[in-house]
Amino acid sequence: MEDSVRRLADLVAQARRMVFFTGAGISTESGIPDFRSPGTGLWNQMKPIPFQDFIADDAVRQESWRRRFTGERALEKAKPNRGHLSIARLVKEGGCQSVITQNVDNLHQDSGVPEEQVIELHGNASYAKCLGCRRRYEIAELERQFRQLGWVEPCANCGGVIKAATISFGQAMPEREMQRAQAAVAGCDLMVVAGSSLVVYPAAAFPEAAKSLGAQLAIVNREPTPLDSIADVVVHGEIGPTLSFVVGLN
Ligand code: APR
Repeated sequence: MEDSVRRLADLVAQARRMVFFTGAGISTESGIPDFRSPGTGLWNQMKPIPFQDFIADDAVRQESWRRRFTGERALEKAKPNRGHLSIARLVKEGGCQSVITQNVDNLHQDSGVPEEQVIELHGNASYAKCLGCRRRYEIAELERQFRQLGWVEPCANCGGVIKAATISFGQAMPEREMQRAQAAVAGCDLMVVAGSSLVVYPAAAFPEAAKSLGAQLAIVNREPTPLDSIADVVVHGEIGPTLSFVVGLN
């Protein structure tokens, strides 16, 4: 096993108040493509839909739902992988206090991390909400509508726009989650980044903040990231095998 993985295992064993910071790279082994991997990243195939465009144009909204309900259906089929299960074990053992994630796939919760220990900076795609009255909608109900009518109707309650409970580019960050992430960063002695290119702010500011507040920083990512130079340990490798070795998961 690489020397960097052994050093990561030592940091994790010594940590008392560890926090994980995850990105789309931890879910690729569950079949969900990430955004910026050379060639396979989603943003190589299509452009993200900015929040303003989603709000302004029904055709853009229906394109967004079409993307969700056609193609591989990776989100619906995905199960937690060894990376998620390794983190869940560290949470269960008490070494990891919380998981700050940019992912919207619910896989940290599905792997057994309690809801109150998951901090979703970019929301959650497993349900939807009306942007007007905040009424919750189940994805299955919207998919039935989409299959029957070819589109998703406005909110039955107030006629407002229904959107998956995710945070799109240009949409305000969720205040409560940002505060929870700040508190988690302030209290940690180790932050482990797993599967993020660390190019999207304000999310990518959290690993920087952890380091500047005196925590150790470890990065596990296939590609180099802009924060590699300030990290104490960098593992350029696959998350699943790396984290399973670190936590002793076979
Ligand atoms: N093991 C290790 N690293 C991996 C693996 C893997 N199995 N699969 C992918 N990676 C790495 C890639 O090399 C890439 O650098 O994970 C990183 C994922 O980076 P992005 O695709 O940019 O995803 P992320 O950092 O989560 O993006 C942040 O951007 O589009 C927005 O809102 C979206 O939350 C997302 C945010």
